[in-house]
Amino acid sequence: MSERSGKAHDIVLWGASGFVGRLVAEYLVGHGPGDLRLALAGRNRDKLEAVRNEIATRLPRAGAIPILVGDSHDERAVAAIVSNARVVCTTVGPYGKYGRQIVAACARLGVDYCDLAGEVPFMRETIDLHDTTARASGARIVHACGFDSIPSDLGAYLVAHHLKSEHGLGLSEDRAYFGEQKGGLSGGTVDSMLHGIAESRRDPKLRELACDPYALVPNRTTDRGPEAPDQRRPEYSEDLATWTAPFIMAMVNTRVVRRSNMLLGGYGPSFRYLESMSMPKGLRGWAAAGGITAGLGALSGALSFAPTRKLLELVLPSPGEGPSKATRDAGFFVARHIATSEPDAAGRRQRVLATVRGTSDPGYGETAKMVGESALCLARDAIRVEGGVTTPAVSMGLHLVDRLRAAGMTWDVAPFLAPPPR
Ligand SMILES: NC(=O)c1ccc[n+]([C@@H]2O[C@H](COP(=O)([O-])OP(=O)(O)OC[C@H]3O[C@@H](n4cnc5c(N)ncnc54)[C@H](OP(=O)(O)O)[C@@H]3O)[C@@H](O)[C@H]2O)c1
Repeated sequence: MSERSGKAHDIVLWGASGFVGRLVAEYLVGHGPGDLRLALAGRNRDKLEAVRNEIATRLPRAGAIPILVGDSHDERAVAAIVSNARVVCTTVGPYGKYGRQIVAACARLGVDYCDLAGEVPFMRETIDLHDTTARASGARIVHACGFDSIPSDLGAYLVAHHLKSEHGLGLSEDRAYFGEQKGGLSGGTVDSMLHGIAESRRDPKLRELACDPYALVPNRTTDRGPEAPDQRRPEYSEDLATWTAPFIMAMVNTRVVRRSNMLLGGYGPSFRYLESMSMPKGLRGWAAAGGITAGLGALSGALSFAPTRKLLELVLPSPGEGPSKATRDAGFFVARHIATSEPDAAGRRQRVLATVRGTSDPGYGETAKMVGESALCLARDAIRVEGGVTTPAVSMGLHLVDRLRAAGMTWDVAPFLAPPPR
């Protein structure tokens, strides 16, 4: 047991037998410091041992990792495992289905927590039920530490920090464009989407929450900002000189960024954040933006209608399945934040471009890196941030940007002069 923390484990990875959990386990063994005390947790010992042994064929030190068995619905087992951890990193999802007890125990027992939740109702519930408890216990509860929503949240944080430190100016607007990308889909992600749709069909309050751009701010009545509607159709971006389309994850990412803005006291007095997908130049881009908009509408319709949903479930991956190593290695993504400052004394505004680039499948290879580095950041970096239900930007900020740069991702900020080439 460590004298440093009085805890047996630096990081408990819960859900290590799942598709993303296996990738995160391998990331932590391969990239964590040699003295990292990692434990793998889940509900099935055989599966966890198989994962550990498989990783040990490539990284022998994995062979000594302790296995902790606990069903996420078993409150006593959860409390016993959580109380021995400095940080719990969980990939047990859908979070609204399986994640409640783990986050509640972390908030109560003062244990730092990170996850891959992209589920707005689950995050809202955590804020409402556990923020006060986590503030009192000192637990930093950080949702959305994967492709949703780190490139959005830390990108906005980075441009705000740059404008403040280089020019002494607040951030007025950040428009994030998710551009070129290639990757796959796992069964857990599909399950989370289906769970979200089923829940919002059942409860009109959840439908209303999903449509609220300020769904995750501390106080939904008073902490409002400028109008920031979700993009619903193709739009032309003068900045990029391309067409743009609605981005499927913007309904999560934009909410996380707006929570960070409120918790950090405001990037600027009237900060506005918008997010979309950027298309290739020219007519091809116009056609692609139309196709994506129509495709998203068709997918949402098909998933809401029981017979077509059942058909889709047959062809989409099941829990535990996901893109092959070859697909993950061939993947990548680029996100561009084009940010405009508040005016200076002479009325001039600064404009900057932050480029965020990942070199493998965004939802799996890069996500394992992002959540793995988040867990390491919480466990090992000297961050002086108080407890509460926060966001990656609030709890980890530049510490995590530095880690992700060192892990091979691009996080660049430069003056914005002209549309970037595509
Ligand atoms: N934010 C992002 O960018 C991002 C990217 C990818 C995935 N995700 C999310 O990450 C989550 C996991 O995805 P995935 O593809 O890895 O899913 P998965 O393969 O289905 O894995 C789910 C994991 O949860 C475990 N589990 C389920 N119920 C449990 C319970 N009651 N007690 C303990 N463990 C339990 C499963 O254990 P068994 O093996 O024993 O069944 C498995 O280890 C999903 O919510 C997905 O949406 C987010």
